[in-house]
Amino acid sequence: MCPLDTLIPVIELRATAPLLDAYLSYFETPSTPFTIPGHKQQAGRIDAGLGQVVDVDAPLYGGLDEVKLTRQLLRHAEQIAAECWGADWARFSTGGSTHANQAVIFALGRPGDRIAVSRTAHRSVLSALVLAGLEPIWMTPDIDEPTGVPMGISPAEFERALEHDPIALLLTEPGYLGTLSDLPPLIARAHAAGIPVIIDTAWGAHFGFHAQIPQHAMQLGADALVTSIHKSLPGYSASAMLLARTELLSIDRLEHGFETTHTTSPPGAPLASIDGCRALLQSRGEDLIGTLLANVTAFRQRVQSQFDVPVFLEASDFPAGRFDPTKLVLRVNQLGASGVEIERALLEHSIRIEMADHDTIIFMATITDTAADFDLLASALIPILKAVQGDARPSDTALSWSVVPQVAISMRDAYFANTEMVCRADAVGRISADLIAPYPPGVAVVAPGEVLTDEIVEGLTTSKDAGVRIAYASDPTLASYRVVRNER
Ligand SMILES: Cc1ncc(COP(=O)(O)O)c(C=O)c1O
Repeated sequence: MCPLDTLIPVIELRATAPLLDAYLSYFETPSTPFTIPGHKQQAGRIDAGLGQVVDVDAPLYGGLDEVKLTRQLLRHAEQIAAECWGADWARFSTGGSTHANQAVIFALGRPGDRIAVSRTAHRSVLSALVLAGLEPIWMTPDIDEPTGVPMGISPAEFERALEHDPIALLLTEPGYLGTLSDLPPLIARAHAAGIPVIIDTAWGAHFGFHAQIPQHAMQLGADALVTSIHKSLPGYSASAMLLARTELLSIDRLEHGFETTHTTSPPGAPLASIDGCRALLQSRGEDLIGTLLANVTAFRQRVQSQFDVPVFLEASDFPAGRFDPTKLVLRVNQLGASGVEIERALLEHSIRIEMADHDTIIFMATITDTAADFDLLASALIPILKAVQGDARPSDTALSWSVVPQVAISMRDAYFANTEMVCRADAVGRISADLIAPYPPGVAVVAPGEVLTDEIVEGLTTSKDAGVRIAYASDPTLASYRVVRNER
């Protein structure tokens, strides 16, 4: 939670959020811009539809602040955020956690250095490693046997990675299904080895603002925290934040990493929304998250009461503090049904869900959902589940969590190698040039430089046939694969 002296009373949010105030003021104060963006908030004069899309856009430069940034509002808002999360440094990104991951990875070491990385990392981490020329030392998560869910990285797995002299530890917490590693011993061990800990907590921007949800990474002693404001908070799409403390990380490197990889024309709305969400968490976070927890619990109980087998992941399934209790994960395998079919049935009720594969559905619940929204979901969902219910299947571990990569050549070498397309049968045993991932969660089943095994090729086809979107493969039909050409 924010330190008590930074708690602010409930007042109109913009009074405590300088960028949010600047965004709103921009539209309240008429001006005649001879600057970019070219729409000048007047495209509606030319076309009403285009105007609806762009005329609500104000840039940072010459919008929220003057073109020369004379008011330094972004810096001010970032400083407030750093204090709120107990960090030394903060930057607001309009490029998502994708960009924040790139920025922090650019601030580590030199090309050729190695980083201990959880295999549950999002594809943005892998791309950033290729860009920065760093090599991953993969760490595979422990799997919780009863649920098939990845439980994060064990101290023993990190110890194994430490033997390869990593310059940093990069973890993804919480994982996509809401579980977390036991972070304090991992952070303590990394610090004992003199290396910084970076936590990609894209799904945990709300952490640390209520006693019943996990603490955030800065509270736990991490050196850098990456988070998406648009995922678990009411932020604008692609708004994100990078926070750091500077005992083991250099502010100069962080600044360079951030600016090297960010747009030079940041839109104002995502920045204003990050500032607004920070102010919201500071003033009303505990209340709002408390209500969310109550709504989610009531929803789970209502649905669960209809079935004899456990149908949701529950905090009680895991050790204390190792699961985000706001995460709604339906274990479709327990009902012997297909998550993808249930998703289709829900779409007929105009209900979109975050993720569905054969065995699992994730409903994204945030502080903006009301009790009525959960009622509506339960009323649509329960009859669908009753209609499709069959015999329970064992809890399989999804391909994204179960593959142990066989690295043949460096990811960067494979990325820039000469490549060729080969048919599926011939792909087995070859070195992949593509990163291929079911999306969501965007976790690589195979990365450039890794061997395409039978398990991977079969598993990807099975997932695709079950209705899962397989992303980033050069041939999305999976009839052929892009592999590193054998140079003689
Ligand atoms: C763990 C993780 N990190 C980073 C990202 C990228 O986030 P963004 O969409 O904000 O760029 C995602 C996206 O799903 C993610 O799951």
